[in-house]
Amino acid sequence: MEANTVREPLFILESGEVYRNPTEVKMSQIVLPCHANHCGELSVGQLLKWMDSTACLSAERHAGCSCVTASVDDIHFKHTIGVGQVVNIIAKVNRAFTSSMEVGILVTCEDLYADKQWKVSHAFASFVARRKEAGKVQLKQVIPRTQMEQMEYSLAAERRRMRLIHAEIITDLLSSSTSQLGECQEYQDAVPAEKTRVESVELVLPPHANHQVSTFGGQIMAWMENVATIAASRLCNAHPTLRTIDMFHFRGPSHIGDRLVLKAIVNNAFKNSMEVGVCAEAYQGGEPLRHINSAFMTFEVLDSDRKPRTLPRIRPEPVDGKRRYQEAIARKKIRLDRKYIISCKQTEVPLSVPWDQSNQVSLYTLEENQMLCFKVEMHVNVSAGQTFHLLSDLRRRQEWDRHYKECEVINQADDDDTIYRIATPSVSKGGKGQDFILLASRRIPCDSRDPYLIALRSVTLPTHPPTENYTRGEVLCAGFTIWEESSSVTKLTYYNQATPGVLPYISTDIAGLSSSFCCTFSACSHFLETNKDSLAALPPSAL
Ligand code: COA
Ligand code: ADP
Repeated sequence: MEANTVREPLFILESGEVYRNPTEVKMSQIVLPCHANHCGELSVGQLLKWMDSTACLSAERHAGCSCVTASVDDIHFKHTIGVGQVVNIIAKVNRAFTSSMEVGILVTCEDLYADKQWKVSHAFASFVARRKEAGKVQLKQVIPRTQMEQMEYSLAAERRRMRLIHAEIITDLLSSSTSQLGECQEYQDAVPAEKTRVESVELVLPPHANHQVSTFGGQIMAWMENVATIAASRLCNAHPTLRTIDMFHFRGPSHIGDRLVLKAIVNNAFKNSMEVGVCAEAYQGGEPLRHINSAFMTFEVLDSDRKPRTLPRIRPEPVDGKRRYQEAIARKKIRLDRKYIISCKQTEVPLSVPWDQSNQVSLYTLEENQMLCFKVEMHVNVSAGQTFHLLSDLRRRQEWDRHYKECEVINQADDDDTIYRIATPSVSKGGKGQDFILLASRRIPCDSRDPYLIALRSVTLPTHPPTENYTRGEVLCAGFTIWEESSSVTKLTYYNQATPGVLPYISTDIAGLSSSFCCTFSACSHFLETNKDSLAALPPSAL
């Protein structure tokens, strides 16, 4: 595997000051045999414990008091990590709300002998400052100081909204999708689901808990991962590799002395992946069970060439088993809808990139259902200045983005700020198109380390109210960052947070969504490269 070097997030501010985020906490661990499974790979449970501890310390650094894990958003693991390699974890608080904070966690793996590092995962966890006698803690605000921090700060609010309605949305999506699925398919030679059932108990001891006697969230996640791995192995009689975990939500605390009952079963097996569901409940003495957490994990089984193997099918148990079997199909679709395709610098093509074999464009999508957040990244052989000039006139976007059906300038507020009306075609047959009133602001870098920026957001103009023929769409925050990699190579990143107008794209055909992004940005690249020399001919007013 070719690996790229992951650079330290060190910034020089305009003032010349070298800046490091004050909430940043780092952890580095050499993976020893005691951290690994029998195949010599770091156990994901151990990694989750390290991620949770690092993130908790970052949250506590900001809060100045003890904090508990409230949730961890969907986690995707791009690579396994071997014994002898080093795991580097960096956590920082992206944003504080009232008593809760979002912490971003970046996990990289380092091969000391080859002097290489690569990204393994980028996760987001929420921590809550423990209540004081006086009541809920009011945290101090995070003040973003760099472009990236500003970006994460805005996205954090959106991710939070999604997290808080996550359960509701999943329930809605499950009920609408499972009703369309009909009866479970019967397969010959299917493995009965009960064969994979696991139940295991853990006694919470002081080493599993923090100084406030609450069980560490990371420890619970590790125990959950352990039973899920056993269930997955029982289906395939081989070593399974964990690829993704759906959101962990800690519904209530657990303490030293609790007995934690962990239950897992394979809910469904698809061609190359299976979904294992895990449920964690706690009790003390004769008290009733408390539901602590439920999670769904996706495993694959890799063959000797590290390609996913075909898995046996599953025969679900009646009633609950059949329901979970159907819900697993629906969740798989939701997961695909949220396809999360991460950096493609490795020559190894990441999982699930059928639309992008060339690896020139990478699509990242964040939490979405009601809300979509995209990040698309690509390199173009055009200088950063030219790229900036070509992209900052939205009227030229029609040349590469078929979603821009119409685009007119409504108001030129100043040289760098323009208001446009943009109309996009309908996504459904006979449906209404959408229109947007967008303020486009462009900024040149203050410093060679900054990118060029083009920011777009919806504004309300009394002169342009919504009309009958179009649904008024809203862009909360979108735009381009344009980084100069060399005089002729530019890294272009497009961000977009959008409201439910884009929902039809995800609910109808997500493969279409991915390929639509891919096509659009390939067209963008082509547009930039074709027009890179035409710039001089453009009148300045068009820029
Ligand atoms: N994800 C992220 N944040 C969440 C959340 C979730 N699923 N559910 C609630 N929160 C946030 C709320 O938004 C609120 O943030 P704010 O103060 O910034 O607005 C904060 O948690 C407190 O919410 P509140 O409504 O006052 O309390 P609650 O009754 O919803 O309790 C927890 C939330 C997290 C404190 C509670 O569920 C809990 O104690 N969970 C167990 C935590 C724990 O012990 N974890 C370790 C492993 S067991
Ligand atoms: P749901 O049943 O709606 O999926 P739960 O929170 O009850 O939600 O359970 C989450 C997952 O945990 C289930 O999908 C299943 O895979 C697993 N699970 C729950 N109960 C058991 C059990 N008794 N034995 C084995 N696995 C279980």
